[in-house]
Amino acid sequence: MSLTPAAHAPVSAATNPSTTLELPLQRHLPKASRLAFGCMGLGGSWDATDWTADHLAHAHAAVEAALDIGVTLFDHADIYTFGKAESVFGELLRRQPSLRDRIVLQSKCGIRFADAQGPKRYDLSSDYIVTAVEASLRRLGTDRLDLLLLHRPDPLMQPDEIAEAFQRLRSRGLVSHFGVSNMHAGQIAWLNRALDQPLVANQLELGLGHLEPIDAGTCFNDRQAGTRAGALAWGGTLELCQQDGIQLQAWSALARGRYTGDTAADPRDEPARALVHQLAEQHGVSPEGLVLAWLMRHPARIQPVIGTSQPARIRACGDALKLTMSRGDWYALYEAARGAALP
Ligand SMILES: NC(=O)c1ccc[n+]([C@@H]2O[C@H](COP(=O)([O-])OP(=O)(O)OC[C@H]3O[C@@H](n4cnc5c(N)ncnc54)[C@H](OP(=O)(O)O)[C@@H]3O)[C@@H](O)[C@H]2O)c1
Repeated sequence: MSLTPAAHAPVSAATNPSTTLELPLQRHLPKASRLAFGCMGLGGSWDATDWTADHLAHAHAAVEAALDIGVTLFDHADIYTFGKAESVFGELLRRQPSLRDRIVLQSKCGIRFADAQGPKRYDLSSDYIVTAVEASLRRLGTDRLDLLLLHRPDPLMQPDEIAEAFQRLRSRGLVSHFGVSNMHAGQIAWLNRALDQPLVANQLELGLGHLEPIDAGTCFNDRQAGTRAGALAWGGTLELCQQDGIQLQAWSALARGRYTGDTAADPRDEPARALVHQLAEQHGVSPEGLVLAWLMRHPARIQPVIGTSQPARIRACGDALKLTMSRGDWYALYEAARGAALP
């Protein structure tokens, strides 16, 4: 079994101006790639069963496809497939130890499933963060994470306690950098005041299928758009991250294929789906590449996290690196996905 990262960037900087832009994250982790691979689909089902040889082969093919398109950043969480995503990835690392130093390994903690102590809940208490990271490292079979994200805001979180957990993890060499996920501007600023090393990433649900963080900036005074669920809560989040060099990572960037398939499951998605296909053909790229290129055109240099584990779809995502979208196309897709003209 051989997992070899692409020896060169898939598209040269000369032909692709967008690749000459540095990701904010590269200031801290120079190896981080423009596209990230999300490992949530690895390891089989979401239950306590063990992973199998088939799951290992599936993970191997997906990781190989991701490496082929230049991905170096692999995104995990302790909960993915009940820990099996990390375990099966750990087995790949065990079989090819040299891979560890060539990738950026990221995981998350803070979500707990229902157990004897309570229902599904978030836990960003100091001891829980440290214990969760220790368990992730055991499953991954590595001695360190390059980046740890707090998976979701915990209403009971206390910044000083989180700072203490980060300090414990860093002093033991277990984690080198820290970030958050699903947090808005106020939460990031609040945490950062307590931390002696600033947060370097924020992973949000963001893309053509999840426009709220963008709508928060464009439609805050539009009555119709202002009622879109959740949009206003994200006010200032993209701007804060852009200003402070916090890497925005986008989960659900492919919107689970809503715009890249041959038909739209929901008729309301059809105008955006048709436009994705029309523009993809016009620019000679895959629909997946076009959907990701839309996100990557944002000046915050958003890093999409690819969620498909199908090798062909993963390779199709590589086309995102071939295209810098025009302002006109960007707005046409934005309007089509919103389903309404801008105010
Ligand atoms: N921070 C968070 O709270 C959070 C939440 C969710 C996910 N994530 C991370 O972000 C990554 C991506 O998130 P996501 O899985 O929601 O995003 P996604 O890339 O939009 O969706 C991928 C999922 O949709 C399925 N899918 C079905 N048809 C598809 C198509 N035509 N094209 C692409 N995918 C299709 C995929 O199955 P196949 O594998 O069969 O293609 C896969 O299960 C995850 O792997 C995880 O690392 C983070």
